[in-house]
Amino acid sequence: MRKRLKNILAGILPQNELVYIYNSYDIVGDIAILRLTVTSKKHAPTIAEAIMNVHKNVKTVLAQTSPIYGDFKLRKLEYVTGENKTATVHREFGCLFSVDVAKCYFSPRLFHERMRIAKQARNGEVIVNMFAGVGCFSIVIAKHSSVKKVYSIDINPEAVQNIRKSISMNRVYGKVVPLLGDAKEVIEKSLRRMADRVLMPLPEKAYEYLPYALLALKETGGWVHYYDFEHARKGEDPIEKVNSKVAERLKYLNVKFEIPFCRVIRTTGPNWYQIVLDIRIFS
Ligand SMILES: C[S@@+](CC[C@H](N)C(=O)[O-])C[C@H]1O[C@@H](n2cnc3c(N)ncnc32)[C@H](O)[C@@H]1O
Repeated sequence: MRKRLKNILAGILPQNELVYIYNSYDIVGDIAILRLTVTSKKHAPTIAEAIMNVHKNVKTVLAQTSPIYGDFKLRKLEYVTGENKTATVHREFGCLFSVDVAKCYFSPRLFHERMRIAKQARNGEVIVNMFAGVGCFSIVIAKHSSVKKVYSIDINPEAVQNIRKSISMNRVYGKVVPLLGDAKEVIEKSLRRMADRVLMPLPEKAYEYLPYALLALKETGGWVHYYDFEHARKGEDPIEKVNSKVAERLKYLNVKFEIPFCRVIRTTGPNWYQIVLDIRIFS
């Protein structure tokens, strides 16, 4: 269980310094990743030691020194203390994920969402995960349901390499199939009209790639799990905004659909939200 950093540091750092501390940090396997402000940077070793005292399994502490950037969704990291490494194994719902936090995107925060989708997957389904990262959605689905296959596409060779390792650690050979490339191209070339369910866990590209998710679905239709970021001022509903944007696009694409479920997964900044829509596509 992650504790709020200011609570951990109360009594360790002076009260007037605590205001400069980011409260949140991530634990990926045995690596803790914290964010520092210009002012809190000088306290990095103390903060790291305090985290290691609370989380006895943490062997390495890194500091994130850039926002998430680029197509591979990476972040710049600096070594703070402990073992000098960036590769680890993360555990979630009895699954093991091989993750190199410097070379691949991974967020431990979406674990509820991964299980929510796994619970919807039905016996014998074929699933396409368009932006698989290290394959965490794919592995959770493969381990916790009786699907036939989860094609897991990523454009980052390091991410695909980590999917391969996780397939072996979780013994889901043949059930999770890693595919390297741009999701558009991979679907056009190899995965047309194959899927009962398509996952689009890349908010920055989901809208643009929606026609390719539809192309991957079987002629008989299926489900698309669509992820997006949305800004909403006071009085605006971020879910409603994404819903209308996507509904308009699907109508334009001449698709029969319904959107029976949508929710805010988390806030990502002031007035910014990560949203998921479960879209049912009819034949
Ligand atoms: C936000 S991560 C999703 C990771 C994973 N689903 C998770 O929950 O941890 C998005 C992933 O999409 C990959 N990506 C970016 N553009 C892509 C594209 N055009 N086709 C396939 N994968 C892409 C990135 O390399 C990154 O690993």
